Parts: sequence; C-alpha cells; structure tokens
Amino acid sequence: MKICIFGAGYVGLVAAACFAESGNSVIAVDVDKSRIDGLKEGIIPIYEPGLKEMILRNQAEGRLSFTTEMTEAVQASLVCFIAVGTPPGEDGSADLKYVLGVARNIGQAMNGYKIIVDKSTVPVGTADKVREAVKAELASRNVAFEFDVVSNPEFLKEGAAIDDFMKPDRVVIGTDNVRTAEIMKELYDPYMRKQNRLIVMDIRSAEMTKYAANAMLATRISFMNQIANLCDCMGADVSAVREGIGSDSRIGYDFLFPGPGYGGSCFPKDVKALIKTAEECSYDFLLLKAVEDVNERQKEVLADKLITALGSPDEEQPLTGRTVACWGLSFKPRTDDMREAPAITIIERLLAAGATVRAHDPEALKEAKKHFGDRIEYSTNQYAILENADALTIITDWSEYRNPDFDRIKSALKSPLVIDGRNLYKPDRMAAAGFRYLPLGRCGVGICGEVK
Ligand code: UDX
Repeated sequence: MKICIFGAGYVGLVAAACFAESGNSVIAVDVDKSRIDGLKEGIIPIYEPGLKEMILRNQAEGRLSFTTEMTEAVQASLVCFIAVGTPPGEDGSADLKYVLGVARNIGQAMNGYKIIVDKSTVPVGTADKVREAVKAELASRNVAFEFDVVSNPEFLKEGAAIDDFMKPDRVVIGTDNVRTAEIMKELYDPYMRKQNRLIVMDIRSAEMTKYAANAMLATRISFMNQIANLCDCMGADVSAVREGIGSDSRIGYDFLFPGPGYGGSCFPKDVKALIKTAEECSYDFLLLKAVEDVNERQKEVLADKLITALGSPDEEQPLTGRTVACWGLSFKPRTDDMREAPAITIIERLLAAGATVRAHDPEALKEAKKHFGDRIEYSTNQYAILENADALTIITDWSEYRNPDFDRIKSALKSPLVIDGRNLYKPDRMAAAGFRYLPLGRCGVGICGEVK
C-alpha cells in the first residue's frame, strides 16, 4: 500500500519504519528540513532500540523515503497519516494547530480519493475538524475529491516502540464507513500475529479510547504511589501488597510499581487534556485532577527523604555542603527522553536546597545538559559520580542499576545512604551489607530506621 506520514517525530518515524518493514511504500514528511536531511543520511533524531536499523534497511530497499515536499507525498499515497505533535496549550487543552495545518496541506495537495488518518493523540471531535479543514481547501480549489477521515490512536511505549507496533495488543480504528474499515484492516493485517485484535468502532469512541487508556494507567500509578507512601507510614511493604492485590485477575500485576511520579510525553499531557475536555462540557473530572496532583507531590518524595536523612530541615538550604549522586535522568529506561521527567523536579529541588548534584544516565546526558547546563556535574561512569558523595539516589530503573557492584558503591560513598525511587534492591540484603537503604513504601521490611 502507498502511505505518507506527516510528522517524522516519535510516533511518525516508528510508524513509517514499521509500515515499510511489511512491504508498504512509505514517504515520511516533515517541515523540519534539517531533520529530513539528517534522516536521508541515516541520522535518526531520537533514540529507540532497533529503530535505526529498521529505517536504514527499508531506506536501502527503497520502501522508505523522507521529504519536505508535501504535495508529492500526498499525491503518491492512498493513506495519509497525521502524526504531528499536539502540545498542550496554555490552558492544558491539546493545541491542534499542527494537526489542522497538515489537514489543510492535504486538502491543497489531493489529486483523488484519500484516507486521512489521525494518529496523533487528539481530543474527541478532532476528526470532524480535520474533515472541515480538508473540505474548505477542496472548496477553495473548486474540486470535489472524495476522502474519509479515520481515527487510529497509537499506543506504543517509548523504549519498546518497535515491538509494540509490530506486535500490538490491539489496533483501534475509528471510522464511519465499511470501505475504509476494510482498507485499514488490510494495512494492519501483517501486525495481527500476537493478538488478532483489530477493533473497529465509531470515530469519537476511538478518539476517547486513547485518552481513557492513558488516564487509567496514570491513575494506577498515582494510586500505587499513595499506597506506597502509606506503607512507609504504616510499616507495610508495598511489594508484598502489590503481589497480594495483583493476584486478583481483575487487578493484575502490571503498572503497579511505585516510583518518583510518571513523566514522559504522554501521561502528563493526556491527563491534562482530558481534564480540559471534561471542563469544556461542564463536567468536573475530579478523579483525574487528584491523579495529577498526587503525581506532582510524588516528584517531591525522593528529595524529601534526602533532606530528612541528610539535612537540617529547618534551614533554608538544608543540603548546603552535601553532594548527591543521581542514577538515571530520563523519565524511564531505554530512552533519552527527558520530557516531564521526575528527575527535573527532584534535581531542581536538591539544587535549591544547596546540594551539589552529580548525575549519570546511559542515554539522556545530552538532553539533561539542555536543561541543567553546568549547574550539575555529569558522567558516563555510574561509579565515578559516587566518590565522596553523601548519598546515592536512584531515579530511573535502567537495567545497569539493577545488579551493581555494591562493594564499590559503599567504598565510594562518604556515607552509605541509598535512596531508591524504583525499589530495585532487597532491603534486608542492603541492611546486611551495611547500607542505610530507603526505598519507597518498604518500611515493613524493617530497615527504614528513623527516616520515614
Ligand atoms: C505511555 C503509554 O504506556 C502508551 O500506551 C502511550 O502510547 C504513550 O504513553 P510511555 O510514555 O512511553 O507510554 O511510557 P510508559 O512505559 O507507559 O511509562 C510512563 C511513566 O509511568 C514513566 O514515567 C514510568 O516510570 C511510570 N511508571 C510506569 C510507574 O511509575 N510505575 C509503573 O508501574 C509503570
């Protein structure tokens, strides 16, 4: 099938590579000339395992190309995907200027029947706006080509994007007619090997599904973070609680890990946007407001633990003269993405408290430098930043932190204090090895000492 994809960002690039991988002919379009020039030369603007190899392979086979020429791309394609950004506007609602800009470009360029697919995460009702924008352009050109608009939200996770796309749990297609549903089924058929679950529904429900999925996942995380904080107060162990509740098949084990708060390009933005959508129809989405509030507070928990353990909480800068080593900066492992990363809030708070901060991350140092500049120290060696530091705090659960050389950590640190925002280690073993180990919600294991 001949496809063009507008937006060579995260979703657009992964979709372009994966559609080409199944033999489709794909043109990826972006207005950013330097990005397209780079892609033509094999420079991939994001880090995602397996993506570079897949892009290079399909480019070499002639199935995947990159361009800034929108007209040619539209005219050569039956299906035009819109995968541009929907950044939050000042009031938290999704800003549709890029999506509708692409819709107008498609209307300007169309030379026959097209299927226009919204892959960007867009509020309920956007497909109607896309349809209107395309119609207006066709009318201004005095032409009457047929087209359909489809909602096809993307559920891929950063760090596992290729796998999620090639073997999705489900594909959701929102359409108002059978012809389009059949073409979309044909396009997605090669990806139905893990689960044969292509769900066709009306357009508005498809748009809503994406927000509801992310809002539900964010709710689970905020819920579990509060349970963990309560476990800290009550002397219970959140890992045992997770086992206990996860065994109920209605609950399940996934997405119940406490942490320093959710981040990334999706959850924070989509939760905000759904609250805003609700407001627009005078509905108060109380639950999601609490989810958001809890998440903001959770980003403070690691710094709170550090200040209580190391500082003089009454002083204005309680960590003056202290050095804190941070493992992990990206919002989650296997990505260099720092968008809404809890590390930003945590480190800003440590700096404001007067601490010297040193950081290690396997991929995100470049992105982190854009944010912190020379206000913190960086290293590509996870042990080097520990020398004479007063504490180690773990913010992101990169796999290289899971089984480190504990002897090396202990002899490097000035005091053997480890504040673990991802619960990576066994509390009893850490205690036996002489660490003062403060995980999240595991005081029931009896090692939290005086710090709660
Ligand atoms: C998410 C959705 O999972 C995906 O379906 C959607 O398309 C985009 O948003 P992503 O942002 O890549 O994907 O990250 P995800 O792996 O879902 O993690 C989101 C955040 O939740 C991270 O900050 C992570 O650390 C946090 N998290 C996740 C927890 O704190 N606890 C958990 O148990 C799971």
